[in-house]
Amino acid sequence: MKTPEFLQIHRVEDAVLAHEAAEGLRATRAHVSPKFFYDALGSRLFDAITELPEYYPTRTEAAILAQNGAAIADAVLCATGPAPALIDLGAGSCAKAARLFGPLVPRRYVAVDISVDYLRQALATLQREHPAMSLVGVGLDFSTRLALPAALTDGPSLVFYPGSSIGNFARTEALRLLREARRTAAGGALLIGVDFVKPAAVLEAAYDDALGVTAAFNLNLLSHLNRLLGADFRVRDWRHVAFFDADASRIEMHLEARRRLTVNWAGGERQFDAGERIHTENSAKWQPAAFEALLREAGYTGVRRWTDTQGWFGVFLATG
Ligand code: AVI
Repeated sequence: MKTPEFLQIHRVEDAVLAHEAAEGLRATRAHVSPKFFYDALGSRLFDAITELPEYYPTRTEAAILAQNGAAIADAVLCATGPAPALIDLGAGSCAKAARLFGPLVPRRYVAVDISVDYLRQALATLQREHPAMSLVGVGLDFSTRLALPAALTDGPSLVFYPGSSIGNFARTEALRLLREARRTAAGGALLIGVDFVKPAAVLEAAYDDALGVTAAFNLNLLSHLNRLLGADFRVRDWRHVAFFDADASRIEMHLEARRRLTVNWAGGERQFDAGERIHTENSAKWQPAAFEALLREAGYTGVRRWTDTQGWFGVFLATG
């Protein structure tokens, strides 16, 4: 039986993250990157979100991949040739990519996540199930730059980026990541999940569910900042706000101060008026043709897509 390999490409120091968060809090319109959602509790809350009745993206994408599995696998192999390397961005539990092992028979599976530690358990389990497959865990913050060592991009690969996480990037950053994914695929293909525009009520319920799980996910960012920055946010002084901005075609999430208050942290402070907000996330919702145009702008020449019957979500295969 083989054993998984692990490499951490660069680890961002807590002091650097704390500096970044403090800069955002000081900005005229306070903002904090959505990456600060994902401490240990935040990651569990996100997993819970994916099971909520209102949060349709995860199960809609899974159904598209299951219902079109054979056609998607044929199209992938046609682009990559047999036994592609499978490069999984934001792999986490590796469960979504593992469903592609049967149809694609990859020569290597490369799981990429922000910390290699998140991948150890999942890859150990996968290795027992696939003793002869090469498994590599890579710790890399690809939200800044996606570049893998040459030994891992030694031939056509399938880059897999499910979950509609591309929506959490601003357009220019999304374009950069799509270009880097194309380079990483080395003549292979990109398989990516994308959330589409739909009635605002459906979108807003998905980001403000009845149980309050998304509210907890958003508010938990303040507890994370308290630990990271030594800040004194009182979670009860804030409320979760989520709305669809039709002009920008995105869900915005904010934390809104319930009263006038001051937040202190090591080396800084900020006063918030009642109703003042911290912008925590954008989640872009695409028109199918607009996302196809973005893929073409990133350099892909072949684009296919599969969708659900309501046209709520798309899985795109980009090649060339
Ligand atoms: C990770 N990402 C695709 C989720 C989204 O839908 O934008 C994050 C999320 N935020 C609130 N709910 C889910």
